[in-house]
Amino acid sequence: MKHILLEIKGAVGTLTIDRQDALNALNFEVLKELSETLDSLDFNRVNCLIIRGAGTRAFVSGADIAEMKNFSVEEGHNFSVLGNNVFTKLDSLPIPTIAAVCGYALGGGCELSMACDIRLASESAVFSQPEMGLGIIPGFGGTQRLAVLVGVGRAKELLYTGRRISASEALNIGLVNAVYPTEIIFEEAEKMAQRIAKNSPTAMRAVKKAVNKTYFSDLHTNVEANLFASCFETEEQRAAMEAFIERTIAKKEKEKK
Ligand code: HXC
Repeated sequence: MKHILLEIKGAVGTLTIDRQDALNALNFEVLKELSETLDSLDFNRVNCLIIRGAGTRAFVSGADIAEMKNFSVEEGHNFSVLGNNVFTKLDSLPIPTIAAVCGYALGGGCELSMACDIRLASESAVFSQPEMGLGIIPGFGGTQRLAVLVGVGRAKELLYTGRRISASEALNIGLVNAVYPTEIIFEEAEKMAQRIAKNSPTAMRAVKKAVNKTYFSDLHTNVEANLFASCFETEEQRAAMEAFIERTIAKKEKEKK
């Protein structure tokens, strides 16, 4: 695997997304590797899974804008379906999952954290669904999971404005379960995971199924994928994504001088 690392300590697995030069942004390759890693988990051995980003700057900065920029409607649809399938696979794992969010969890990064059962955040964590500013919408289940977690009104406000929220606001609205100083976030996630992993695998599988059946079994991700795709090949989407790429190029050139 080029971008995914899986480490197992006792009955706890830690899956790290490592694409630090793009702040762990999700492209096709990362999503495929993530999917394969989830398929490879041995549930006789692993009884709780932590998901984190490599480094401390970002959990995941979103889907890869450079890759999406020139997508056709069809490519947008395929990308959303791929990501939605991977996130549904994560959501449906028969073991508890914890997102250890340090730094940016934007767009697809926030959506990835929401496909986990529990979200722990560092004080430096920043959450947002900024897709509106890119002329698109969330496409990895965010339009639905966010509403389940924080309520429809708050979710719509966050989706319409794309505004960034701090870890403490995320805690206040119920998007995250707890906030820790950055230096100990991964340690705390490990502690919680080790504690959870001691429980009966059968009972945990049952409780997760019982909760998910009510709240997460009827996600209309195909509706979202179609709507996500419909935003591509538009002037707004092309211009907004181009502007992001130009900004990062200009920033790099300025830094070189
Ligand atoms: C591609 C990204 C990226 C992304 C960061 N990078 N986020 N590349 N896709 N989502 C890259 C930058 O281009 C840059 O590469 C490097 O990572 C460091 O980023 P900087 O911008 O230089 O860092 P900083 O100034 O600290 O700003 C960090 C940031 C910013 C606030 C996270 O990068 C940012 O706003 N990124 C985009 C966040 C976003 O809009 N995410 C949502 C995407 S849409 P170089 O090569 O220049 O060093 C989405 C849809 C999901 O997620 C659904 C899909 C179906």
